[in-house]
Amino acid sequence: MKNFKTSNRLQAVPEQFFAKLEQKVKKAASNADRPIINLGQGSPGEPAFDHIKEALKEAADKPINDKYPPFPGFAYAREACAEFYKREYGVEIDPEKEVSLLIGGKAGLVELPQCLLNPGDIALVPDPGYPDYWSGIALAEAEMYMMPLIEENNFLPRYEDIPEDILKRAKIMFVNYPNNPTGAMVDEEFFKETIAFAKAHDICVVHDFAYGAIGFDGKRPVSYLEVEGAKENGIEIYTMSKTFNMAGWRIGFAVGNPSVIAALDLMHDHLHCGLYGGIQEAAAAALLGPQDEVREQERMYERRRNLLINGLNEIGWKVKAPQGSFFSWLKVPEGYTSEEFSDLLLEKAQVLAAPGIGFGEHGEGYVRAGLVASDEKIKEAIERIDALNLFNK
Ligand SMILES: Cc1ncc(COP(=O)(O)O)c(C=O)c1O
Repeated sequence: MKNFKTSNRLQAVPEQFFAKLEQKVKKAASNADRPIINLGQGSPGEPAFDHIKEALKEAADKPINDKYPPFPGFAYAREACAEFYKREYGVEIDPEKEVSLLIGGKAGLVELPQCLLNPGDIALVPDPGYPDYWSGIALAEAEMYMMPLIEENNFLPRYEDIPEDILKRAKIMFVNYPNNPTGAMVDEEFFKETIAFAKAHDICVVHDFAYGAIGFDGKRPVSYLEVEGAKENGIEIYTMSKTFNMAGWRIGFAVGNPSVIAALDLMHDHLHCGLYGGIQEAAAAALLGPQDEVREQERMYERRRNLLINGLNEIGWKVKAPQGSFFSWLKVPEGYTSEEFSDLLLEKAQVLAAPGIGFGEHGEGYVRAGLVASDEKIKEAIERIDALNLFNK
């Protein structure tokens, strides 16, 4: 069969580290005599809430939803996003000019660099960080400058370390708190600093708020838009995937600076025809409906966090607790790389934890364990790791 050569642009897209990891898991599963406990993934294990599914079912019977939806989305869906921000964060959003509906947060994150960057421009990227930031930058033929997130600095970037020649070419920056993969959270002060930095260097802030509904120990995740000057200097991306367990439904939205929102909407006009109306109705039901299940879920993740972190410390693996998100960032024992330790857990304990190196160079030395597995699975994973006798109790 003839093999058509892909474009240079597509060839520049980085290899999907986690697709490779999936292959490893498949292989390990076929060699193992017990099921793999997957703590490596980031897809919520719980179903979408009932009232959201009901809204979709009702919407499916409406003829208007069989037609092409309006390109920028239905007005009610954009208004629901604005109302959600008003209710949750006290932020005023103009639903017409300051909301863009997305086919999932990932789509927005990949589209943004293509909306704002030219070849040779620079995007500032957290390292470790969510790998899909890299894909959009590669598709825009732009360059990345990695901002190390290290434990000694509470996994916050140090803007003062970024060289002047980089700052001259930097046009956008990605930040993400509660953070994937480190589980770190920030306060308003951090966003004040970020805004001052971005303003001084004419950089658009893109705050990825994917885990905005998951903060522990009574600490409420802060929205970037709550801080003065945020809208002038950037946007926030919210996803329905984690807060409402709608990962498969593919819907999220961007809120903030009207020029960036207009650029995203223009991109969407050319790439696709909006989102299915039923999904928009369901998203509105999620955003405007009762939030008790969201809060209950937050407590569930906190309970699992405690189970995992206390359990691992008891078996002698001394690890620190995340402050938010549904991930734990676990330092691997001396003498192993993150990939070696992840392989060891997979082969000997049939437990998958994602190797930190997959999230960037500064992810080396850690593995990421998710809290999306059930309490029982987390307990069993701890027992299996304990049985390897790797740690001194
Ligand atoms: C940090 C972060 N941002 C964005 C996303 C994208 O989520 P979605 O495309 O489902 O909205 C994820 C998903 O795992 C994530 O972890």
